[in-house]
Amino acid sequence: HAAMGHDTAHGSDGAMPTAADNSLKLPSGERLPALQPLVNESSDAGRFVGSLRAAPVPVPLWGDGAKTTFWAYNDSVPGPLIELWEGDEVDIGFENALTQPSTIHWHGMPVPPAEDGNPQDPVAPGQRRRYRYTLPAGCAGTYWYHPHPHGHTAEQAYRGLAGPIIIRSKQDPLRHLPERHLLLSDLKLDAQRQIPANDMADLHDGREGQFVLINGAWQPVITLAEGERQRWRIWNATSSRIIKLALPAHEVQLVGTDGGLIGVPQPVDSVLLSPGERCELVVTGRFKPGQPAGLLSQPYERGKRMHAEQEKDEALAGIVAYGMRPTLALPASLRPIEPLGAPGFRRKIVLSENMADPKAPFLINGQSYDMNRIDGTGQVGRIEEWEVIADAHMDHPFHLHGTQFQVLARTVDGIWEDEPFLAWRDTVNVPAGGMVRLRFVQTLPGLRMFHCHILEHEDQGMMAQIDFLPG
Ligand code: C2O
Ligand code: CU
Ligand code: CU
Repeated sequence: HAAMGHDTAHGSDGAMPTAADNSLKLPSGERLPALQPLVNESSDAGRFVGSLRAAPVPVPLWGDGAKTTFWAYNDSVPGPLIELWEGDEVDIGFENALTQPSTIHWHGMPVPPAEDGNPQDPVAPGQRRRYRYTLPAGCAGTYWYHPHPHGHTAEQAYRGLAGPIIIRSKQDPLRHLPERHLLLSDLKLDAQRQIPANDMADLHDGREGQFVLINGAWQPVITLAEGERQRWRIWNATSSRIIKLALPAHEVQLVGTDGGLIGVPQPVDSVLLSPGERCELVVTGRFKPGQPAGLLSQPYERGKRMHAEQEKDEALAGIVAYGMRPTLALPASLRPIEPLGAPGFRRKIVLSENMADPKAPFLINGQSYDMNRIDGTGQVGRIEEWEVIADAHMDHPFHLHGTQFQVLARTVDGIWEDEPFLAWRDTVNVPAGGMVRLRFVQTLPGLRMFHCHILEHEDQGMMAQIDFLPG
């Protein structure tokens, strides 16, 4: 049957590269590779000028020199790290050297819709354009960029087109801490060690390959000293993995979410990071004898699926101790977050599955995405409250373009629970059968998409759009 089609088409399972295969170029034992920065071509402070080119690139991932073809920005997998400052004027040229249309979407950033890489604004193969926008005050945080062309988003992202963005603020209470950047992506390989197209199970569940990579490397090693405090920014840039991250040996505080710092550090045992989400952690090295010191992905049940669920802890990265370091202070409060007030408008957003219709298997409010249909209107500056409901067998990570929202409450086993602290997010997992209540304001007029960030679901219709009119 088609669900099995891919593996059988290319020979036995024995020939498939697996996570037990130790011939990847960056096997356990190597240091975490740094993300390549995108060069700022401007000499003016407050201005960032750069360029990104999307093109196929063969990467020698294997000890024997065999190459795997990725699609990459500037030949880099993941794409180069873009570091910006609040207030910056940004001007990034894009060249599409793929054979299909593409765009660059600035995930989570307050960018005008015309500059946000919407599916309505494709860049044709061989064409170029510039993306220009100015970053408002208060938007410091951890963002990313990826393609958003109609129907090709998943494929372009899983072939390698995704990269990290950091927006910095001059008032950063954590600037004294050394920083690490960990971008998680998913790699699926066939028996020829190439990146295969999605099969039936991928289209249904979302794609999961054999490897979770960090900064393009498989199971890299992170160095941390006993007592040392590091600030980690983590991106979930996988197509569909909802990853429960844990560092059981160490002391971990959550200090930031998608849209930047939270009010006060929150001690955590684990963080559930769904596709598209980011977090900032402060990790303090505590090497306790007999405890696994690494960065783990813990089992998390995300509903009824065709893919096998992860059954035990899996190591995403090793962590090795290098002596002792003084423990730098962690401020008791990071920045104030004001709760959004009473809503001027409410909506119910229902995410559902309809597997009986292969043309429209994933729906929002009963409809499959249509680029030419506007699903509602809103008003700039007006607070909206949304109840997002997964009337579904699977979890669906919900994402809204153009702004950050505050989650007020979510259901746990059918009971509403208030959110324990305020945070700015643009993506939140809605568990199978669960509900999430959130508030936001759009500050810029125009068309804004919202969708499931399992990119296979988004491409197959689990997306809708609202036109926000000037207030
Ligand atoms: Cu990260 Cu509309 O997407
Ligand atoms: Cu987005
Ligand atoms: Cu989904």
